[in-house]
Amino acid sequence: MLVKGPASPLLCNKLANKTDVETVEVKTKVFPDGERYVKIEGDIEGKNCTVVQTTYPSQHLLELFMIQNALRENGASSIRVVVPYYSYGRQDKVFEKGEAVSAKAFAKRIELEADEFYSIDLHSEKIVDFFDIPAKNLSAMTRLAEHSIEEKEPDILIAPDEGAKDIVKKAAVSVGLDWDYLEKTRIDANTVEIKPKSIDVQGKSVVILDDIISTGGTMTEAARQLKESGAQKVHAGCTHGLFAGDAKEKLGSVCDSVFCTDTIEQKKSEVSVAPLLTELID
Ligand code: R5P
Repeated sequence: MLVKGPASPLLCNKLANKTDVETVEVKTKVFPDGERYVKIEGDIEGKNCTVVQTTYPSQHLLELFMIQNALRENGASSIRVVVPYYSYGRQDKVFEKGEAVSAKAFAKRIELEADEFYSIDLHSEKIVDFFDIPAKNLSAMTRLAEHSIEEKEPDILIAPDEGAKDIVKKAAVSVGLDWDYLEKTRIDANTVEIKPKSIDVQGKSVVILDDIISTGGTMTEAARQLKESGAQKVHAGCTHGLFAGDAKEKLGSVCDSVFCTDTIEQKKSEVSVAPLLTELID
């Protein structure tokens, strides 16, 4: 049974249309004091349930915990949790003494009432090791690369930093495109520096791909460098489009287009991750 998480309604509908699986809605409401409520609108007793729920913004994380609890309390046989965008993944270690490892804290809560966990383009592969239940990280990068070929006609795919190098390389190789990466230093949450690098982009169409666009600082700086190096077109694509604050305006000032998947549903969701998930659910 597919349990339609309230944070991922369009993705859940796509999955429901592409598979033969039975679906169940989740009712949510917010009390006057801001506390939240969830109710599974169907009989899931004895059923193998898959809940698809992205966890951004944070209230959707709370809803996920409550949905899992409702499934357990109401007798689901098994619970598979699919989190298209796993928020808090970037805090995956103690960077400074005293900090919480948020990515681990939420993994520990999720596994309490789950039998299996799946996500897409987790910020780091090591997050799967925080789970003591079977956990798997899928990738939307090849789908983003395929979409780039269809819509943006790129000569090259570029990762904006070393962190994205491996996933972009893998996607580029699988679609037969050239690839390269830039070198980024993060100064603070809003500021990054990207070293000029001698990649031949003169007159070329470039697609930069990353797991996340948050403030847009990384992509804007990467696109600026590439345009200064002579790139004719620079498109920016990512799996998870958070677009915090004025990210869209910043990106729009230098990028020829910006696109993302539907792990976080929005207008710029040009690529669906549904094909990655249908096999799981069917
Ligand atoms: C960081 O390592 C991630 O892969 C992204 O590059 C980063 O989260 C993007 O953040 P922002 O858009 O704020 O530069």
